[in-house]
Amino acid sequence: MRIVSGIQPTGNLHLGNYLGAIRTWVSMQDDATATGGECLYFLADLHAISMPHVPAELAANTREMVAALVACGIDPERSILFNQAQVPQHAELQWLLNGTARMGWLNRMTQWKDKAGKNREGASVALFTYPVLQAADVLLYQATHVPVGEDQKQHLELGRDIAQKFNNDFASPEAPVFTLPQPFIPPEAARIMSLRDGTAKMSKSDPSDMSRINMTDSADAIMQKIKKAKTDPEPLPSEAAGLEGRPEAKNLVSIYAVMANVTVAAVLSEFGGEGFGKFKPALGELLVEKLAPINRRFTELRQDRAALDAILSKGAEKARALAIPTLEKTYAALGLMRG
Ligand code: TYM
Repeated sequence: MRIVSGIQPTGNLHLGNYLGAIRTWVSMQDDATATGGECLYFLADLHAISMPHVPAELAANTREMVAALVACGIDPERSILFNQAQVPQHAELQWLLNGTARMGWLNRMTQWKDKAGKNREGASVALFTYPVLQAADVLLYQATHVPVGEDQKQHLELGRDIAQKFNNDFASPEAPVFTLPQPFIPPEAARIMSLRDGTAKMSKSDPSDMSRINMTDSADAIMQKIKKAKTDPEPLPSEAAGLEGRPEAKNLVSIYAVMANVTVAAVLSEFGGEGFGKFKPALGELLVEKLAPINRRFTELRQDRAALDAILSKGAEKARALAIPTLEKTYAALGLMRG
């Protein structure tokens, strides 16, 4: 197994990232260690420049995100942890794949449509070609599995389409250049929703900080955000079917279930019939208890800038070594002379 995934170092790591992706990264790391597989996890800093950004903040956020990932359980001795900018093979492969990706495919991407909005003419070219870089990120390493939240599924399917077309156009069926990667989306936490609107995903780009739990939030902030989370006036149902049509209630119950590592049915058998006045403090306390050790480790790690930089440069060195053979195969398949 070759596991590859990335996260943009913009803003804080939030509960949606953690439950949708990072938790799976950690468990896949543990499985891979046991079975001789390999995990590559990276900070998608090249993706971050597709939107307006402040350079000094990007650099600071990149370091902070390394500290946050290590605090969550990513072990740089067992996983290759790096940032794209130190592995130029990502950008090189993207260019090579630009010849295979189709305008029509990119035009259909919902993230492109959402982020460009009505102002397509003013959006960056990087925002449009963003999914091609994402395809390069995984194809470069012959990834077999890509753990992500539901919102990245469409990008990964596009990556598979690019790989398939490239293999068809430039390789023989016996010797394909790229492995077709499988998305891995945890069903119980595929889409964690905003605390202010159960129909919008929890996101770092939401202007309201009350909409998300950041992994770095204090206990007081967590309790406050859960207390203020939007809900409806009904008590909790006793069965999962009763959560349909109640997106905020469904989201809070799902978060409880995943954090406590129990089923939704088990949560409802405990809290069914109770109002949010009882459920919310229990959820807040559970979150505080589970996130406190991560928070403590993060606070320690983020102070050692040199150690964080060393993790990234060591990770990048290993990533480059793994990337080069596929990149060279790609150049050769396209008839590009490398001397
Ligand atoms: P990003 O930085 O937006 O998010 C990182 C990971 O967190 C997941 N996620 C969520 N999961 C459940 N509920 C939510 N509310 C939620 N919000 C975020 C995302 O699905 C993702 O897995 N384009 C990617 C980064 C990327 C990448 C890649 C991922 C770049 N290259 C190659 C996989 C493979 C992104 O912006 O994720």
